[in-house]
Amino acid sequence: MRFKRAVRAVVVATLASILAACGGGEQAQQPIAFPHKIHAGDNHIPCMYCHSSADKSIDAGIPAVSVCAGCHFPGGVPLIAADKPEVQKVLSYWRAGEPIPWVRIHRLPDYVHFPHMMHIHAGLQCQECHGPVQDEMQVTQFASLRMGWCISCHRKKDVRTDCFVCHH
Ligand code: HEC
Ligand code: HEC
Ligand code: HEC
Ligand code: HEC
Ligand code: HEC
Repeated sequence: MRFKRAVRAVVVATLASILAACGGGEQAQQPIAFPHKIHAGDNHIPCMYCHSSADKSIDAGIPAVSVCAGCHFPGGVPLIAADKPEVQKVLSYWRAGEPIPWVRIHRLPDYVHFPHMMHIHAGLQCQECHGPVQDEMQVTQFASLRMGWCISCHRKKDVRTDCFVCHH
């Protein structure tokens, strides 16, 4: 009996991991299922409320746990959806004083220079490069991020395209 149960456990675990691998497709497995649609879509939270350095720095930035806490459980007091399992996970990171280990989706090679702030200052919308993030439960890479993609927009907008703009 015990043997049978052990075999069944192994079979179930194997099936679960195969399903997870297929269902995941190209998407990264994040430590918390963070829904952009609920935040930036349904609740109209501006992109830069969370990605607050996009207009000031090279990186757009990923919000710290304290930003999540500020809405969901300010000072540890339950406020928004604090009883939901995924928000409970956020609470554990916050209590432990640990950052959430988000898996990075976009990654240009180190020899490419991409300053977010220059693009935001030029009046580009996040969606031109990242797609309709406000409609997505899980964010994915929208543009190819290949050199030809950068250069074709630079040409269209009359921006420099000499090699040293992006490689230095
Ligand atoms: C409430 C906070 C919040 C808001 C509002 C928000 N984001 Fe995010 N965003 C996150 C978090 C947390 C992550 C990391 C987890 C993930 O990838 O889903 C992230 C990840 C991303 C990524 C992928 C980063 C990577 O790893 O490459 C992009 C692109 C992005 N957000 C764009 C946007 C855009 C565009 C908007 C507005 C339409 C927006 N976000 C609104 C919190 C937010
Ligand atoms: C500006 C306020 C605000 C911030 C900041 C914020 N959230 Fe939320 N979040 C909400 C609201 C509003 C909802 C929808 C609650 C509802 O419909 O009951 C929500 C829903 C969620 C849900 C879905 C809960 C469920 O299962 O129904 C998760 C998960 C979540 N937030 C995680 C995060 C994480 C992680 C962060 C930080 C990166 C964050 N939130 C930052 C306001 C915020
Ligand atoms: C002109 C195209 C473009 C625009 C406009 C743009 N991004 Fe990005 N974004 C990128 C590229 C390219 C990367 C990858 C950068 C890298 O890997 O160094 C990226 C990466 C990110 C990341 C990953 C983490 C980081 O800090 O790099 C986040 C989050 C993000 N963008 C959010 C936003 C938000 C929010 C906006 C609007 C306020 C925005 N982006 C506007 C092209 C763009
Ligand atoms: C959708 C259009 C668009 C895309 C896509 C785009 N850019 Fe740009 N880029 C611009 C605009 C507009 C400016 C602003 C020029 C200015 O302010 O004078 C700019 C400016 C820059 C600058 C600063 C130029 C300077 O004069 O110092 C760099 C570097 C840059 N982009 C790199 C990249 C890289 C690398 C990519 C691809 C990963 C990329 N861009 C994709 C439109 C784009
Ligand atoms: C507007 C930004 C931009 C400009 C201008 C630019 N590049 Fe690039 N380059 C990129 C990006 C982004 C990548 C990485 C993605 C890729 O390989 O397509 C890249 C990759 C490369 C690579 C590596 C390709 C590979 O397959 O490994 C070489 C070599 C290169 N660039 C040379 C150049 C030369 C030479 C020039 C000038 C004629 C130039 N680049 C101008 C953005 C740019």
